[in-house]
Amino acid sequence: MKFFRTKDIEQMRAQALASGMAKNLTAVDLVLLGIGGVIGTGIFVLTGVAAAKYAGPAVVLSFIISGFACGMAGLAYAEFASIVPASGSAYTYSYAALGELIAFIVGWNLVLEYTVTSSAVAAGWSGYVTGLFNSAGVQLPFAFTHVPADGGIINIPAILITLLLSFFLIRGTKESTTLNRILVGIKLIAVFIFLFLAGPQVDVTNWQPFMPFGFSGVAGGAAIVFFAYIGFDAVATTAEECKNPARDLPIGMIGSLVLCTILYVVVAAVLTGVVPYSSLNNPEPVAYALRYIGYNMGSALVGVGAICGITTVLLVLLYGQARIFFAMSRDGMIPAGICKIHPRYKTPYLVTGAGCVVVSAIAGFAPIGVIAEMANIGTLSAFFVAAAGVMVLRVRRPDLPRTFKCPAVWLVGPLAVLSCGYLMYNLPVETWIRFIVWCVIGFAIYLSYGYKHSILNNKHVVKK
Ligand code: ALA
Repeated sequence: MKFFRTKDIEQMRAQALASGMAKNLTAVDLVLLGIGGVIGTGIFVLTGVAAAKYAGPAVVLSFIISGFACGMAGLAYAEFASIVPASGSAYTYSYAALGELIAFIVGWNLVLEYTVTSSAVAAGWSGYVTGLFNSAGVQLPFAFTHVPADGGIINIPAILITLLLSFFLIRGTKESTTLNRILVGIKLIAVFIFLFLAGPQVDVTNWQPFMPFGFSGVAGGAAIVFFAYIGFDAVATTAEECKNPARDLPIGMIGSLVLCTILYVVVAAVLTGVVPYSSLNNPEPVAYALRYIGYNMGSALVGVGAICGITTVLLVLLYGQARIFFAMSRDGMIPAGICKIHPRYKTPYLVTGAGCVVVSAIAGFAPIGVIAEMANIGTLSAFFVAAAGVMVLRVRRPDLPRTFKCPAVWLVGPLAVLSCGYLMYNLPVETWIRFIVWCVIGFAIYLSYGYKHSILNNKHVVKK
């Protein structure tokens, strides 16, 4: 039963304290980091796709369903984060509650989440920037702004933005959060410009029919727009760099989730209220809607805001990816050498650099559309396990100090499991097949490397 050995929680706390990472993030930083990681491609691009192809104006309901699933899982996450304030998010929590094998698979799926989402977001950034250049009359060479599958050679802007952001991340978490604060401000302004200009132009006849594809369309739309919420969980990966993680992590996660859900529902309602939902399947639906009602200048401003917004998403996801790798390598699940901390910048520089190279390679050369769908299933599986794990730990370790307790855990926990499971169920079959293949590869790596190199093999490490 060594597959299900668990890591000692007290030891995890001690390890987190001794990790050597700078601890200077505050609750406000975390809320902004959450918003930074959440509002991006999902709201600026996917709302339109989901409305046009799946849900119609009822995409508002899709956002509420997805937001509900995230809220339930977020409460479970927050309790875990207050018990085990260590990098690694659901991976670390599963290690404490459900055992090493499940933790490895969850960590492996979080790597999938962050890597694939980052690559998709970098490619989306490139698309917006290329579009902005084009509308200013500057044609960037097609071959160097598109991947081979789309008829190009390499997507250079996607590579450049990834490398630039990794430079910031290696230089220091504090510097990165300063950049994040500025860009989050700009993207929120962009969202409010949209609401301010488009809100008064809502024509309620555009909301008829409200549910053109029935409830199955709403559910399919919810599984797609779930992408818009990915990122709030990245707040949990900052645990070892917070001043007061036990108090601030729950504030950061739940605070950013509530704010983003409200904004999404309002933006989706206004968007489908100003233009017919069927016309929204385009790469920049928010900017398009403003042009449609005659605000060309507003549309350009929102375009710039979207670019800033997508930049912060990428920043937070790259950050989260490095922290998951860091936590896994520290446990011996992947080679330990890569989790070295930079002596001056106090950041895990090797793993940050390596992760960014992989993201750049995927974003620069791979057809993103197909693999981006996998981000949702990887994330949902991690939420599913975290929600189950919080209940297991309530039974197995009721004694642990919990500065944040998930309210009504025997209601919220099962609701989180069911709602995340329901969204997974609504994803396409091909996505499931790829996901299973990914998990099998992870299992093989665990058996051939992680199992043998786990620090729990060391008899000096306390096992429960
Ligand atoms: N939630 C992030 C976005 O929508 C991934 O871009």
